[in-house]
Amino acid sequence: MKHLLSVCDAQDQVVQLLDLAMWFKKGKSDDKPLKNKTLAMIFQKSSTRTRVSFEVGMGQLGGHALYLSTNDLQIGRGEPIPDTARALSRYVDGIMIRALKHEDVVELSENASVPVINGLTDLEHPCQALADMQTIKEHRGTFEGKLVFVGDGNNVCNSLLLISAILGLNMTVACPEGYEPNAEIFKKAQELAKESGSVLEIIYDIKKAVKNADIIYTDVWVSMGDEEEQEKRINDFMPFQVNEELMALSNEGAIFMHCLPAIRGQETTAGVIDGPQSVVWDQAENRLHAQKAVMYSLMKD
Ligand code: CP
Ligand code: NVA
Repeated sequence: MKHLLSVCDAQDQVVQLLDLAMWFKKGKSDDKPLKNKTLAMIFQKSSTRTRVSFEVGMGQLGGHALYLSTNDLQIGRGEPIPDTARALSRYVDGIMIRALKHEDVVELSENASVPVINGLTDLEHPCQALADMQTIKEHRGTFEGKLVFVGDGNNVCNSLLLISAILGLNMTVACPEGYEPNAEIFKKAQELAKESGSVLEIIYDIKKAVKNADIIYTDVWVSMGDEEEQEKRINDFMPFQVNEELMALSNEGAIFMHCLPAIRGQETTAGVIDGPQSVVWDQAENRLHAQKAVMYSLMKD
C-alpha cells in the first residue's frame, strides 16, 4: 500500500491493519516508530474526530502533525494541487487530507512523493471503515452476520461496502430511491464479494432490510457539501430514521453504529444512539487505533 485513498488500496492488508490496530489499542507499543516524522493534515471541511485522532495518534507514535486549513493554505488562493503536493513532500513524511472532491485527493497523491491518506471525501471514508470493522470485531468477535446501512448511500456507505466485501461481511443498504451508493463502487464491491462470499444488496423497503440485521449503521442525511439540499433530504429520509421501533425489528443483541457527528431526531433517535445497543463511542475511539495502524504501515522507515 502506497497511499490510502480508497478501502481498495488496503485490500490485501485489511486484516493485518485491524490486527495492528488492536495491538496499538492494547498499548503494546512503547517505542516511537514514527519519531521525527511529520504528517501534514489538510482540511477543506470541518472535523472533530479525524483531526484529533490523527494528531494525537501521530504524537503517540513519536511524530508530529500539522493542521492546515485550506483557507490558510495557498490552495485557497488558487495554487494548483500538484504544486502543493510537490512542496509539502519536501517537508513532511505523509499527508492526510479531507477534501470536497475525491479527484483532488487522487491528484494530490499522483504528485506527492510521500504517502497520502484520505480523511474523507465525497466518495469515501476509508479510515472510518477500518475503525468500524475493528469495532465490529471487538463487539461481535466475527465478520459473520449482516450489516444494514440505513440512509444515504454516501462516502461512509461506499467505504463500508468495500470493506464488508473484502472481509466477507454481508451488507444491505436500505435507502430511498435516488440515494443509492456510488454505482462503480457497488460494482467493485460485488467483484470483491465473489471472493469473500459476502452478500451485498440495496433494498428500498426499510423494514424488510433490517430483518435479521446484526448491525444497524446510519449517518447524517445532509453530508458536508450537501447543505443546499437540506430540506429535500430531510423529507426524503424521514421514513429511514433509525428509532426504537426499527431496532426492534433487527436481531436481538444487534448493535447500533454511527460514524458521528449525529443529529438526534433526524437519522437516529436519542433513545437509540444513547441506548444500550449503541457502540458509537467505541467507533470514535477506534479511529485513533486504526489510524495509528495506517500511519505506521505507510510512514515507518
Ligand atoms: N466520523 C468523522 O469523520 O468525524 P469528524 O467529521 O468529526 O472527523
Ligand atoms: N457523510 C458525512 C460523514 C461525516 C463524518 C459527511 O460527509 O459529512
